[in-house]
Amino acid sequence: MPADTGVEIAFAGRSNAGKSSALNTITQQKSLARTSKTPGRTQLINVFELSEGKRLIDLPGYGYAKVPEEMKLKWQAALSEYLQKRDSLKGLVVLMDIRHPLKDIDQQLLQWASDCELPVLALLTKCDKLKSGARKAEVLKVREAVAIFGGDIRVEAFSSLKGTGLDQARAILSEWLLQ
Ligand code: GTP
Ligand code: MG
Repeated sequence: MPADTGVEIAFAGRSNAGKSSALNTITQQKSLARTSKTPGRTQLINVFELSEGKRLIDLPGYGYAKVPEEMKLKWQAALSEYLQKRDSLKGLVVLMDIRHPLKDIDQQLLQWASDCELPVLALLTKCDKLKSGARKAEVLKVREAVAIFGGDIRVEAFSSLKGTGLDQARAILSEWLLQ
């Protein structure tokens, strides 16, 4: 890992939620972060430096059942160490498939971020899979649900495929990166 100075924004979420795709879309790079149909593609903490001291971090997905137990423990350890110890971490993008948001593990992450006053942008990914009415209803439902965690959690629908929510995501990330 680079020295723990400057500003970092990490992309976290369950395996296959669309973290790497969102990172590519937001940075307008086709294949900066490797994406895949196979869950568990991102197996390391990948660091993308935007400019000096400004970094986006693609984290391995959590909750993927099919990796060997030993590996899973290693990732989890690396992930929680990163999240808990990284001083330069100034914002967390939590990605959840809009069709299955707020699984237990997502809720734990949101509660943790909120407890340590880390601002969160929750992106409800693959929103192109829902019709507009259902999409809006889901966003409202998740906004209401995350209110219980307290803290600064913003919720937006997002599609890497269609570019939905891209302007909002970029605006929030730029705000965090300016620190
Ligand atoms: P891991 O690295 O395995 O944890 O996955 P990830 O969260 O980085 O997901 P990734 O970006 O690799 O995407 C997983 C799958 O979802 C791929 O098949 C993508 O093409 C698909 N996907 C990602 N974003 C979207 C989206 O906005 N719309 C649709 N329809 N599919 C998407
Ligand atoms: Mg990935």
